Amino acid sequence: MRIHVRPVARLRGEVTVPGDKSISHRAALFGALAAGRTEITGFLEGEDCLATLGAVRALGAEVTRKGAGHYLVDAGGPEALAEPEDVIDCGNSGTTARLLMGVLAGQPFWAVLTGDASLRRRPMDRVAAPLRQMGATVVGRQGGSRLPLAVGGARPLRALRFASPVASAQVKTALLLAGLWADGPVTVEEPAPSRDHTERMLVAFGARLSAAGGAVTLHPGGSLRGRAVAVPGDISSAAFFLVAGAVVPDAAVSVKGVGVNPTRTGLLDVLAQMGADISRRESGAGTGVATAEPAADLRVTSARLRGTSVGGTLVPRLIDEIPALAVAACLAEGITEIRDAAELRVKESDRIRAIASELARMGATITERPDGLRIHGGRPLRGAAVSSGGDHRMAMALVVAGMLAEGETVVEDTDCIATSFPGFLDAVNALADGPCAQVSA
Ligand code: S3P
Repeated sequence: MRIHVRPVARLRGEVTVPGDKSISHRAALFGALAAGRTEITGFLEGEDCLATLGAVRALGAEVTRKGAGHYLVDAGGPEALAEPEDVIDCGNSGTTARLLMGVLAGQPFWAVLTGDASLRRRPMDRVAAPLRQMGATVVGRQGGSRLPLAVGGARPLRALRFASPVASAQVKTALLLAGLWADGPVTVEEPAPSRDHTERMLVAFGARLSAAGGAVTLHPGGSLRGRAVAVPGDISSAAFFLVAGAVVPDAAVSVKGVGVNPTRTGLLDVLAQMGADISRRESGAGTGVATAEPAADLRVTSARLRGTSVGGTLVPRLIDEIPALAVAACLAEGITEIRDAAELRVKESDRIRAIASELARMGATITERPDGLRIHGGRPLRGAAVSSGGDHRMAMALVVAGMLAEGETVVEDTDCIATSFPGFLDAVNALADGPCAQVSA
């Protein structure tokens, strides 16, 4: 699917973004590990999270769809998972694959995980290596570092203290989950704090966790019980509207019920630093005790942005928003430097390369760095033919770039948007002054 985008001068109205992807994955997976019923509302029905639902079904949990984003997960507790009959396909979803590896490490059976071409290229050794230290067997392509991988569990697993070389919530979560079947505490240290949805939600389900000095520990022996989880809107999806609303000349856009967990709000801080006008009103949605995840309504109006620099501990707080941020940086006066973001090279695509090459086609002055980008902004973007490279966040960032460019932009390879934001185009068109983004085959 290809999207034709025309420039937009005015953007007005309210939008509700779909449920948070990270929280939806965890709600489904933790529900499958807990005893009893987990009732999820606001679940993201994008391909990634549907892959997690498929996986938990394959592991024996009963999943019932009650309505849009409303699911029941019934399961028998951490000892009750069943050996899957077939290979589990994680599709495009790194979170599905890596979190499942942690769960499978503690099971008395073998399971095989695979994924699409992008996921089969992504590094899995960051999770496989520490799981092997705990006693699990992980074998597969490229020395057991790429999908397809077979995971043979051990029970009990060995206790572990692991200093992760990367700030990754997927690594952290996989190891903490494996800790449910360990013979002692499992502690994960990170170079910078990553998103903490797992910690919040596991505690709410009844797991025993403690945190000290930048490390988090799971103490085995807690009992997980099913419960209600209200998933707030995804700030990573809201990001596209926040950037468009900040840069389109005549814009006033409200994004309702967005999760504003402080480990995820780096983009709000950076846009404020760039001079964006974003106000925030705490909202009830998603604040249910189940997830203890804060949510807010965000309102953005047009502003003149200036360049900024982004690096260090801020990076994990906005890692998925960097494609959208790069578009804002192209329109901001002056230079924007993004550093310490080498992780972008192992996302759904090499996002440093993809951002640099596609925005350069639109006339941006942008230089690729090993760990980031240097963008000289304040010059108009030109409509051009660009491609997402099969990466959902690239596709949506390029649609936003097209809204801000002169002339028509054609974004190729956009089916991937369904990974995280089905309904994205309808939402864009509803805010614009007439349909601005049209699909052609
Ligand atoms: C995620 C963690 C991040 C993020 C991904 C979702 C999660 O990845 O980029 O989109 O839900 O735990 P890493 O853990 O690899 O940094």
